[in-house]
Amino acid sequence: MEEYPKIEIAPAKGKLGVLTPGMGAVATTFIAGVIAVRKGLGSPYGSLTQMGTIRLGKRTEHRTPLIKDFVPLAELDDIYFGGWDIFEDNAYQSALKAGVLEKTLLDQIRPELETIRPWKAVFDKQYVKKLDGDFVKTGGSKWDYAQMVMEDIQRFQEENKLDRMVMVWCGSTEIFLKPDKVHESLESFEKGLKENHPAIAPSMIYAYAAAKMGIPYANGAPNLTADIPAFYELAKETHTPLAGKDFKTGQTLMKTIIAPGLKARMLGLAGWFSTNILGNRDGEVLDDPESFKTKEESKLSVLDQILQPDLYPELYKNFYHKVRINYYPPRGDNKEGWDNIDIFGWLGYPMQIKIDFLCRDSILAAPIVLDLVLFMDLAKRAGFSGIQEWLSFYFKSPMTKPGLYPEHDLFIQLMKLKNTLRFMKGEEQITHLGADYYEFYK
Ligand SMILES: NC(=O)c1ccc[n+]([C@@H]2O[C@H](COP(=O)([O-])OP(=O)(O)OC[C@H]3O[C@@H](n4cnc5c(N)ncnc54)[C@H](O)[C@@H]3O)[C@@H](O)[C@H]2O)c1
Repeated sequence: MEEYPKIEIAPAKGKLGVLTPGMGAVATTFIAGVIAVRKGLGSPYGSLTQMGTIRLGKRTEHRTPLIKDFVPLAELDDIYFGGWDIFEDNAYQSALKAGVLEKTLLDQIRPELETIRPWKAVFDKQYVKKLDGDFVKTGGSKWDYAQMVMEDIQRFQEENKLDRMVMVWCGSTEIFLKPDKVHESLESFEKGLKENHPAIAPSMIYAYAAAKMGIPYANGAPNLTADIPAFYELAKETHTPLAGKDFKTGQTLMKTIIAPGLKARMLGLAGWFSTNILGNRDGEVLDDPESFKTKEESKLSVLDQILQPDLYPELYKNFYHKVRINYYPPRGDNKEGWDNIDIFGWLGYPMQIKIDFLCRDSILAAPIVLDLVLFMDLAKRAGFSGIQEWLSFYFKSPMTKPGLYPEHDLFIQLMKLKNTLRFMKGEEQITHLGADYYEFYK
């Protein structure tokens, strides 16, 4: 057995602050959900940290603790919420408008939700064309706004006597930005902040503030944001874990469940057509071609990596892949995602798979936010910094160390996540090698 260094994990003592730039559907469904679970009004289904177990050692040992009993995670009771938005609505009003959770549930936790009021946002309509809001910081450079965000964070920490914090971007998807020279080093990025460089989007200003303060940062949208060398450098300097991008929920979740199965059985793929209708504010923002482009890039990348057309050209070389998102207001947050998958098998005979996933976007995203908060806080206490590839499980476009390809297969991602937890605690990695061989060759 390979020997790993022992990792010292600081205990999850005290209060944990969660900062969300963006307090719309996802953020309020997460916040209201945590408060509801705390009060016994609901269960945290969909959350690995709350429901999941982890097998340790050999199957004969029957050691399968809950993940939250295996690694020291913050308790839900110790979580405090703060965030920014371009609308002044408190978390109760915003959750009502988002229309995800029922009013009867929200009314039972109304006093708690009403105390959560956003701070003024760093916002520029240039980067999210479909939105207009006036609850924004004004009169400064991008550098000044970064300082203001840090002041908001400091005030939040002092007022609530917080021991640790985590930031998760739950804001709208910004326009597609390519990596630019200004992103290449921390020095050029900080100069760019002072000079109001156009390649520095508002989301980067929040991420900069967090990473500068050593606060773990996860990006729930496909925006470039922290996936640039300047942030890798800053994260190293301040020992900050980074993760992203774009929560893996509805259709892409399904894609990364089904594609590995097709490949496992060596079934070929001729085409995969995916279309969605959704009617929430996210859908409206994505109706703008420039924001959709950011999302499209994120959604398209998964199949190529999973199917490896270079290794299996006959099966996967020229499959046609198309993803559409259509804004359709009557559905609100209840998205419908259709997939038509044209596959072929033995002797090239064609077959079809149709998926009609009637999902609820924010219901799928909220437990991801919770898990990321708890695991990013754990990563920080375990001394991990920089890109946290073991959290790829949660993202459509996982950030990877430069030069490495992202892993999209949900099952490999889960194995990586659980093996990282085993590694943290000095437990043996699970190889799934059959017991007979193991005994025989011992
Ligand atoms: N729900 C899902 O399944 C899912 C999956 C993957 C990614 N996402 C992403 O998560 C993000 C949030 O989704 P949502 O459904 O909550 O959207 P939403 O529109 O309900 O909420 C986003 C909020 O961010 C605010 N905002 C925009 N720019 C901001 C800024 N610069 N500073 C502060 N606030 C800002 C908006 O005013 C809005 O209230 C989106 O980017 C979405 O693409 C969601």
